[in-house]
Amino acid sequence: MIDGKKVLFSGMQATGSLTLGNYLGALKNWVNLSDEYECFYSVVDLHSITVRQDPAELRKRARNLLTLYIAAGLDPKKNCIYYQSHVSGHTELSWILNCFTYMGELNRMTQFKDKAAKHADNINAGLFTYPVLMAADILLYQADVVPVGKDQLQHLEITRDIAQRFNAIYGDVFTIPEPYLGKAGISIKSLQDPAKKMSKSDENANASIYLMDDTDTIIRKFKRAVTDSEASVRYCDEQPGIRNLIDIYCACTGKTPEETEKEFDGKGYGDFKMAVGEAVASELKPLQERFGELVKDKAYIDGIIRENAEKANYYALKTLRKVQKKVGFPERVR
Ligand code: TRP
Repeated sequence: MIDGKKVLFSGMQATGSLTLGNYLGALKNWVNLSDEYECFYSVVDLHSITVRQDPAELRKRARNLLTLYIAAGLDPKKNCIYYQSHVSGHTELSWILNCFTYMGELNRMTQFKDKAAKHADNINAGLFTYPVLMAADILLYQADVVPVGKDQLQHLEITRDIAQRFNAIYGDVFTIPEPYLGKAGISIKSLQDPAKKMSKSDENANASIYLMDDTDTIIRKFKRAVTDSEASVRYCDEQPGIRNLIDIYCACTGKTPEETEKEFDGKGYGDFKMAVGEAVASELKPLQERFGELVKDKAYIDGIIRENAEKANYYALKTLRKVQKKVGFPERVR
């Protein structure tokens, strides 16, 4: 609890450009949470170097992501928006938690298996202990809730296990976090293969809408989106491509799938795809404009980076000092 509010933590990686899936599935929903929760939203750059990055590129993307958080409507006075690498407590707690995590547990992580297969030439220890760093992120702020996608639930589960194990030995040190299931963000699928999630690391640029895509690009991608063979705009399991487009349309317009079916009754896929493209373009326009303005205001963004790193560090140190004492490190002499 901070000032009587429950604590919420989440983070995104600055690898690849954010997609419509990241926005509709997460970012857009984060905006409404700051009244109810004390929110920490991190740009998790420490996580990013588990795979090789170009340094200049990583720095640029991290800054863009932080700016995007604000452009999407997260008020940086109410939400602690910061770079993970600016708060050394993440790495320090991560080391300690490494000593309370079993190889066998980490071996079971499906994301590790996937990433190890994908980056077979660089299966480094960081990739393996990635979930422990994630546990440190969450536990450092004594988070009560963590909004995460399905693919991260296993990491949240191991976070809870590590915290419970630690608490069982040393007493109530960590808050045990719960997944945030509130108004759950929807899962947007690839435009080229509705069996797959829309991903910022997809090699096929037509599969994803990037948040900075211009209107023409957006409409072109929707025109090329994979659809089904029924030729009717119907929300059903047999038409996963159309269902995905309906989900996107509804998320952008606030309509329901039933209303959407009615609206496009008797019309073909072509008309519908055009409408989805336009709805997405107008959803993203204000965000893009705000981003453009923010990018120009270097001093403002720098100020936020500085203030929020300090704020995050304050809470991080509180937990870290407690943990260090519990495990038996000598107290600091002043
Ligand atoms: N691993 C998460 C992802 O790739 C990002 C992340 C890092 C995170 N630390 C976190 C998410 C803590 C929630 C809480 O999506």
